Amino acid sequence: MIKVAIDGYSSTGKSTMARSLAKAVGYRYIDSGAMYRAVALFALQNKLIKESVIDTNGIIDRLDEIHINFMISPTGTQRTFLNNHDVEDDIRSLKVSSVVSQVAAIPEVRHSMVELQRKLGSEGGIVMDGRDIGTTVFPDAQLKIFVTASPETRARRRFNEMIEKGEQVDFDEILENIKERDHLDETRTVSPLRQAPDAILLDNSSMTLQEQSEWLLEQFRLCDNN
Ligand code: DC
Repeated sequence: MIKVAIDGYSSTGKSTMARSLAKAVGYRYIDSGAMYRAVALFALQNKLIKESVIDTNGIIDRLDEIHINFMISPTGTQRTFLNNHDVEDDIRSLKVSSVVSQVAAIPEVRHSMVELQRKLGSEGGIVMDGRDIGTTVFPDAQLKIFVTASPETRARRRFNEMIEKGEQVDFDEILENIKERDHLDETRTVSPLRQAPDAILLDNSSMTLQEQSEWLLEQFRLCDNN
């Protein structure tokens, strides 16, 4: 069983394609972004972020109080748990999205999350998506994909997703958030968002989710046969 690393920009449908591959081949799927989101939620809940100002040392001091795990719901979807509470919905809020990149840039937070990610993937048979899976977490992954699409395409997808959930959102605010996160993810000093030299590039601006999932399954079969 191999390790599959799917990295790339936010809102490129990475999670959907990763989840669909894992289901098709019977692997475990791990959304590493959910872990950084859970840390950001913990920081918000514990007043370690006030008016977008992050208390970095406060977060570092309390890292050992943060316990993240994943469970599969009766409908087969993955849910993220923070200290035994299901936070899957809360971690997707715009409030968390607007601070998560700053939290994910803290080296101690990354160190702790990478350790957990490696533990979860130690036996292979895993599809993990994120920003640094192919470069830092699993440089030995047998299949690495780097996904990109234009910021406008990604903002439109995110906007439609949130409208479908019944949330009131503003397209320009989402676009701004995406551009800001791209910038923070690309310029942070520890494990910045980069394509691994041995990753396959996928620009999915003009692909449907189904097309990209089929494309990924094909890449998996090619890799698994070698
Ligand atoms: O994929 P996502 O939007 O849920 O990720 C949330 C944030 O976490 C995003 O700003 C980038 C960061 N992240 C990271 O730095 N490294 C990862 N492996 C996954 C996510």
